[in-house]
Amino acid sequence: MDQDETPYLDALVDLAEREVGRFHIPGHKGGRGADARWRKAVGDLALALDFPAGTEDLDIGPDPLNTPFQQAQRLAAEAWGARRSWFLVNGASGGNHAICMALAHLGEVAIVQRNVHSSVIDGLVLSGLKPRFVAPAVDDDLGIANCMTVEALERALDEDPLPVAVFVVSPTYFGAVADVAALAEAAHARNVPLVVDESWGAHLAFSDELPANALACGADVVLNSVHKLGGSLTQSAILHLGTERIDGRIVDRSVTLVETTSPSALLTASLDAARRHNVVDGHELLSETIASLKGLRRAVVAIDGLDVLDEEIAEAPSVFAWDPLRLSVDVRGTGATGNEIARHLRLQHDIWLELYAENVIVAVFGIGEEVAETGKRLIGGLRDAVEQLSRPVHGERAPFAPPPPWGPTVMTPRAAFLGDQEVVPFSESTGRIAAESLAAYPPGVPNVLPGERLSDETIDFIEDSLAHGGQVRGASDRTLRTVRVVVEE
Ligand SMILES: Cc1ncc(COP(=O)(O)O)c(C=O)c1O
Repeated sequence: MDQDETPYLDALVDLAEREVGRFHIPGHKGGRGADARWRKAVGDLALALDFPAGTEDLDIGPDPLNTPFQQAQRLAAEAWGARRSWFLVNGASGGNHAICMALAHLGEVAIVQRNVHSSVIDGLVLSGLKPRFVAPAVDDDLGIANCMTVEALERALDEDPLPVAVFVVSPTYFGAVADVAALAEAAHARNVPLVVDESWGAHLAFSDELPANALACGADVVLNSVHKLGGSLTQSAILHLGTERIDGRIVDRSVTLVETTSPSALLTASLDAARRHNVVDGHELLSETIASLKGLRRAVVAIDGLDVLDEEIAEAPSVFAWDPLRLSVDVRGTGATGNEIARHLRLQHDIWLELYAENVIVAVFGIGEEVAETGKRLIGGLRDAVEQLSRPVHGERAPFAPPPPWGPTVMTPRAAFLGDQEVVPFSESTGRIAAESLAAYPPGVPNVLPGERLSDETIDFIEDSLAHGGQVRGASDRTLRTVRVVVEE
């Protein structure tokens, strides 16, 4: 296939330029009926591209399997190395919901890495799947949760020999890449499919300077949140099927079930374009980004009190390789917190970060970013922040980014989410079974799941995170003064 082509994008632009008579939704009619400020903000062409689903010559036509939409999905499958791919317009979150719905066709129990994204837990609620959680290995030096080891997977498979699938996340938020080939081999030896949430690794397929992508390592189902580092618009993602271990028709009906009936043409076109950009230009652009990031890391380490996560992360037993496209800065040596440094960068330098917490700040870099330029600005800001905020460091070093203390699972997420429940003060919820997820964001790994018993440590962890400006996803009371818990007999 010609990866330089963008069939969906071209068909969409062609329709917009033809100025067709629009007697269909959306009601702004290609921008004519849109608010003037909105038109000015996004531009007339963006609004003219806003065509609905079910448009002839775009996603329907005499040969439904050969519309520009289907061609674009096939190009994506080829680019990432999949048998079949689905464009998603509700992010990788929608992909995780669809995966769980698909797996629930196959049985009841799934082996799930405990530090998966909260959307996997939501998928367990929707599908009713029973998770058997496997804790990720935790790096003793840094205190961060990494990947699932093959040994841990084999132990789980011994205890539960017939799960519907094994669900892992790789790369993790901090760039730890799992030994996907070995995990796939262990799962496949028992005829169990391996699902990899590779939301943070859409770019891995496009550079041989990076760890191999999960599909190349034999994973059966892979999810890429292309908007994260792959260059498409926010909310767009791709779900891939790599093998025949799971029936594509089941995945297809599950994607349809969770998807809007009005997918945005702009999001879809951005996926088509991002695929072309990654295949055609990715190799060169990623090579430049990776080289510049090496220099940037050296510049960060040269600032007193700062350190960075780098390829040393791959020395941990559960980590096979490292993805360098994020800059995770360890601020413990400055005596200031990551929250303070991030605030200073934002207020004094208008520099906005991906993540900040007590001991760490994270900046991410996308394909084609002029790191030499953007990096200079970041280094200037960091030097100033450290100069202004540093204070003497006393006592023992706290762990870098400790994983939340996870409580025991006593009910399935679905039974807890839908069962009899009541609202109690959060600070008095110790010992109760949570009826909702609580995930400090970012990175969105749930600290508490529906069905897990709350402990003092978990409550302290979340309260501390909120006190330092964190947000919690999943709680019905966003302030978390109260929490929904299960009523026990
Ligand atoms: C590992 C992982 N999976 C899934 C998601 C959800 O992605 P999206 O925001 O595209 O819905 C995230 C988002 O942070 C994530 O980190």
